[in-house]
Amino acid sequence: MLGARCLLQALRSCSSAPCARPRAPAALSVRDALRARGASGERVKVQGWIRSARSQKEVLFLHVNDGSSLESLQVVADSSFDSRELAFGSSVEAQGQLVKSPSRGQNVELKAEKIEVIGNCDAKAFPIKYKERHPLEYLRQYPHLRCRTNALASILRVRSEATAAVHSFFKDSGFVHIHTPVITSNDCEGAGELFQVEPSSKTKVPKENFFNVPAFLTVSGQLHLEVMSGGNSTLIEMKEVVKDLNWLGIRAFTRVFTIGPTFRAENSQSRRHLAEFYMVEAEISFVESLQDLMQVMEGLFKSTTMMVLSNCPKDVELCHKFIAPGHKDRLEHMLKNNFLTISYTEAVEILKQASENFTFTPEWGVDLQTEHEKYLVKHCGNIPVFVINYPLALKPFYMRDNEDGPHHTVAAVDLLVPGVGELIGGSLREERYHFLEQRLARSGLTEAYQWYLDLRRFGSVPHGGFGMGFERYLQCILGVDNIKDVIPFPRFTHSCLL
Ligand code: 4AD
Ligand code: MG
Repeated sequence: MLGARCLLQALRSCSSAPCARPRAPAALSVRDALRARGASGERVKVQGWIRSARSQKEVLFLHVNDGSSLESLQVVADSSFDSRELAFGSSVEAQGQLVKSPSRGQNVELKAEKIEVIGNCDAKAFPIKYKERHPLEYLRQYPHLRCRTNALASILRVRSEATAAVHSFFKDSGFVHIHTPVITSNDCEGAGELFQVEPSSKTKVPKENFFNVPAFLTVSGQLHLEVMSGGNSTLIEMKEVVKDLNWLGIRAFTRVFTIGPTFRAENSQSRRHLAEFYMVEAEISFVESLQDLMQVMEGLFKSTTMMVLSNCPKDVELCHKFIAPGHKDRLEHMLKNNFLTISYTEAVEILKQASENFTFTPEWGVDLQTEHEKYLVKHCGNIPVFVINYPLALKPFYMRDNEDGPHHTVAAVDLLVPGVGELIGGSLREERYHFLEQRLARSGLTEAYQWYLDLRRFGSVPHGGFGMGFERYLQCILGVDNIKDVIPFPRFTHSCLL
């Protein structure tokens, strides 16, 4: 509504009638203003929040930031502009000329002709204090205000760049982006960590479930991605009706990905668990070895990170300097080395021989704990390590049976990274109808997963995929210790602020 009104006003002011007033200068983001080449005095308008205000005898210096970059734009004004409202935290609009700056460390500055305070800020009550470097833990209490700090703004800009970089990696590798549903009727991981979805008022849908079946917030988009990348029964059934299927194609897609919110009702307060987190998931048809999958995982990690480093170096630098000193070298070490691979059985052997006193005793057939994962990465020289072939009994029904012995394993792979532990979980999927049927029957899931079995009945292919926790990825590249600091609005047990 507002947008339409502004547009109308703009159109009116551009009509053929001569304008009485000079045209208002164009609004420019701080980022674009700082990048302006030449800065030969063009008149511009900048809007943002005051990061610092310094008044000298005859000149007033403001630093204005609008979140478009880590750097602020210096606004220089006559001291007559000075007012108590021009203080840290206030929102302002400054108009003037963009000129070359004589000061060191910046190319341009705004010579203000007009400064308007849009909303002033009560500095005493404002929980973010001028020039103070607040710990991330302190800022967590203010999810509605913490994005005004350099640290959170940098992390969130990196998050935005990383999202774009993930899309770009998959697009360049021939993947199709699929929006998988948030509400689902299946429990992909079978771990029972589901949030059930129901209308808030039962009166509208009396006896039955709203969806006729119990519905949940998704724990993973994997099974829906498998529908897209596997055989498509509907199309095959249609083959009998539609003679010329060339335009339809038998198979849906061979390479698909998604990035979206996933939910786990895990009762965990750890530094790497959330109840709502984002997962980057991929599914690839005609893949017969874990090595092929691992190549895509390593490519995703390295290519996304290189893109982030080249697109927002200053934001990453801030994190590496103030939040995680020394992390720049650790990240470079991860990027320049080939990731390693060990089997689960080897991993358990390494842990058993370790001199470390683990809280959980390592044992074949028992899940690796975070302390084990962190030890294994250290043992591997702080290079990310793929752990492959996990015990069948530990893993969900969809993972491909290795038909080995005496220890029975599945073709699963987890990528463990320094500081975080498990970053990616994936596997080859059980594409053989009878194997899958037996696994489902053993778990009492045959009826619910008929549609999944159908994918194996109608043109099944060997395939595999993986899911990468997006917040854990950001923790890993930025060195942020607590997962709650790399997501705008963290949700976890006993906390759902805002
Ligand atoms: O290992 P997970 O549970 O794997 C799956 O859900 C597969 N269906 C994915 C697939 O193959 N398409 O989860 C994948 C990743 C983990 O490795 C971890 O990084 C992250 O998701 N993750 C969490 N991140 C934050 N909070 C939690 N509670 C998480 N649980 C898993
Ligand atoms: Mg896992």
